[in-house]
Amino acid sequence: MVALRLHQITWLAEGVVRLELTDPRGGAALPSWEPGAHLSLHLPNGQIREYSLCGDPADGRAYAVAVQRDERSRGGSAHVHERLRVGDLIEVDGPKNNFALVDAPSYLLVAGGIGITPIKTMAEALEAAGKDWRLFYCGRSRDRMAFADGFGDRVTLHCDDEAGSPPDLAAVIARAPADALVYCCGPEPLIQAVERALDDPARLRVERFRAPEQPRGSAAEAPFTVVCRDRRFTVEPGKSILETLRANGLDAPSSCEEGICGTCETRVLGGEPDHRDFLLTDAEKAAGTSMMLCVSRARTPELVLDL
Ligand code: FES
Repeated sequence: MVALRLHQITWLAEGVVRLELTDPRGGAALPSWEPGAHLSLHLPNGQIREYSLCGDPADGRAYAVAVQRDERSRGGSAHVHERLRVGDLIEVDGPKNNFALVDAPSYLLVAGGIGITPIKTMAEALEAAGKDWRLFYCGRSRDRMAFADGFGDRVTLHCDDEAGSPPDLAAVIARAPADALVYCCGPEPLIQAVERALDDPARLRVERFRAPEQPRGSAAEAPFTVVCRDRRFTVEPGKSILETLRANGLDAPSSCEEGICGTCETRVLGGEPDHRDFLLTDAEKAAGTSMMLCVSRARTPELVLDL
């Protein structure tokens, strides 16, 4: 974790500000990143929030993130909009990338609202690389859509207040080349509509703002044993591995604690995880070499972790 200085706050759209963060000691180069990467900001109110990088990856002098004021804010975006001031020092983890571009014959990018932030840098990188790409960018109204200007004819903007809601995502998917890899970031209904419209889940990469609603913990969950650092712990039904480790005095990094950020990803040395995150691809889940300690459990009586 490093402390960065909040160098600039810029208005991007209705309810959206851009934060620029730089090295407080005066211009030291920051670790590099690629489109899809995010930072975890440890806000002064104690909350940790992930924000996608939306600046220029070639600019090693500054990181930029965009933060939309969330009407359902659990405190993070409200704190950013109301309390942060230029000059503040903010502890930052990252960059980390769970949403990296992989090589494909063509790309369909789908962004909803502030989900444009990782998608924008992907579009710019694909354009610079001469790739075949299209972007469908939807939002409630044009004045609330950051980065709505400046894209070319590869982009379709859908403003709900002009074109109606919800957008016809099945038609958007149907128009894309059959070999297009689909990258989607936005609110849960948008992601679920894209999931429903795509016949092949292997063609989809998503990044979520928060985990979908689902019951956590049930009588059907069995206890299992976690082995790490030469110690053994029983993870009871309704308790996460992370909670169990912490209750026994072991610390492990975490942030979202709902299986969407990747901060708690840990290598698995033995046993088979029962993946419950919203991050790993089906292939990564099948490989079983790493897991998210905040939500995932075990299919085998014992898991050995590299902690
Ligand atoms: Fe975010 Fe576990 S803390 S995935």
